[in-house]
Amino acid sequence: MNILITGSTSGIGLQLARDYLARGNTVYCCGRNTASLTSLIRDFPDFAQILCFDTADRIDCSERLEKLPALDLVILNAGTCEYINAANFDSELYERVVKTNLIGTANCLEFLIPKLKPGGSLAIMGSSSCYLPLPRAEAYGASKAAIEYLTKTLSISLKPSDINVSHIAPGFVETPLTALNNFPMPMSVSVEFASKKIRSGLSKKKSEIHFPISFTWILKAIRLCPFGVQKLLIEKLFRSSGPTLNLG
Ligand SMILES: NC(=O)c1ccc[n+]([C@@H]2O[C@H](COP(=O)([O-])OP(=O)(O)OC[C@H]3O[C@@H](n4cnc5c(N)ncnc54)[C@H](OP(=O)(O)O)[C@@H]3O)[C@@H](O)[C@H]2O)c1
Repeated sequence: MNILITGSTSGIGLQLARDYLARGNTVYCCGRNTASLTSLIRDFPDFAQILCFDTADRIDCSERLEKLPALDLVILNAGTCEYINAANFDSELYERVVKTNLIGTANCLEFLIPKLKPGGSLAIMGSSSCYLPLPRAEAYGASKAAIEYLTKTLSISLKPSDINVSHIAPGFVETPLTALNNFPMPMSVSVEFASKKIRSGLSKKKSEIHFPISFTWILKAIRLCPFGVQKLLIEKLFRSSGPTLNLG
């Protein structure tokens, strides 16, 4: 298969790239970290292609993506997380997070949807934080809630073009991003586990890939409650996990 993965220099995206490369796929590995991209070429000289660009920069995206050949699978995974102090709301922080997570994804969609073969798949990285309103995730959670809406809408809009669209919503995964978290991460999983779940879900063309299910089903169950009950449950969870609980 011809596969493109954004954010393949670190964490979940790097593991996905390595796993798909190890199985003989051609993978277009994307990111800004040239040292990490170079190591993929060194380890998989026959299969890795590297594309160094900033997904939040539309011109950069067009220059890197417009000349690509047809693709079987695109995984838009690049993302970041910064936490908000609501009492001292920082709109520049908000713009940074939304620009990377949402606008960066939209920039890639513009140039990559036309590259997908009929029968191909598009997967977009959301987060289980989109299921509930979590304190300090005003920027990150909102960007991922928008990703959920965007992805689910695309899965309907692109069906006539025979393109399968999957929304990926992990719980905590141990990566350089979550290594910065200074709070407990319940039921966190390794990047190897995350990659296996994502690859398995994509091979079955699942429209939603969420894991670990023991964690995500709890969030989904709370989401079914009236908002007043959700608030009480989140506050309880919040108190028991310390003052900075949040999702990665
Ligand atoms: N870890 C978790 O617990 C967790 C849970 C739910 C969802 N997620 C989501 O999973 C995705 C990957 O997260 P991770 O934990 O693996 O984080 P990570 O290790 O920090 O990796 C983030 C990746 O995104 C790329 N990236 C970020 N901003 C970019 C930009 N402007 N242009 C191009 N590439 C950019 C980075 O590449 P460069 O630095 O090389 O540009 C890097 O490869 C994110 O969308 C995150 O929100 C993570």
